[in-house]
Amino acid sequence: MPLEQTLAIIKPDAVAKNVTGKITAHIEENGLIIIAAKMVHLSAVQAEELYGEHKGKPFFEPLLEFMTSGPVMVLVLEGKHAIQTLRRIMGATIPKDAAAGTIRNLYASHEFKGKVHENAIHGSDSTESATREIDFFFDQAEICPRTR
Ligand code: RTP
Ligand code: MG
Repeated sequence: MPLEQTLAIIKPDAVAKNVTGKITAHIEENGLIIIAAKMVHLSAVQAEELYGEHKGKPFFEPLLEFMTSGPVMVLVLEGKHAIQTLRRIMGATIPKDAAAGTIRNLYASHEFKGKVHENAIHGSDSTESATREIDFFFDQAEICPRTR
């Protein structure tokens, strides 16, 4: 299995709770390495493009509001089966359903207060999404493969 790259976004709820360090540690402890990282405060246009597949769904507008409500941390991760590994360690979309010990179980609110689930982290769901999402946020020169 060749190395894969995937995109993670630590969402505004988790940045606001000051747990980016705990989440990046969790990612690293599960064998993925960080090869690019930055803080971004998404515009509505950026959030709409990123989550375009959900346009028309009832949670789409609340999702845009949530994703633009504060800064996010965007990461490119590399590792064997990186896409699947990240999805596994994130846990299920709805935090109260996320398996014990997953990022969403540990760091997202289990209470559904608003109109959208605030669930701490995004991960690319396929090789096509990973390529598209990495290109969306990073120039090739900003990606730093390990040399040691
Ligand atoms: P993500 O794209 O952020 O990694 O999340 P995901 O694949 O686990 O879930 P997805 O179906 O792609 O949904 C995108 C985000 O929209 C919010 N959501 N809320 N019924 C709801 O209220 C609902 N469904 C989805 C969540 O923030 C979810 O992560
Ligand atoms: Mg998704």
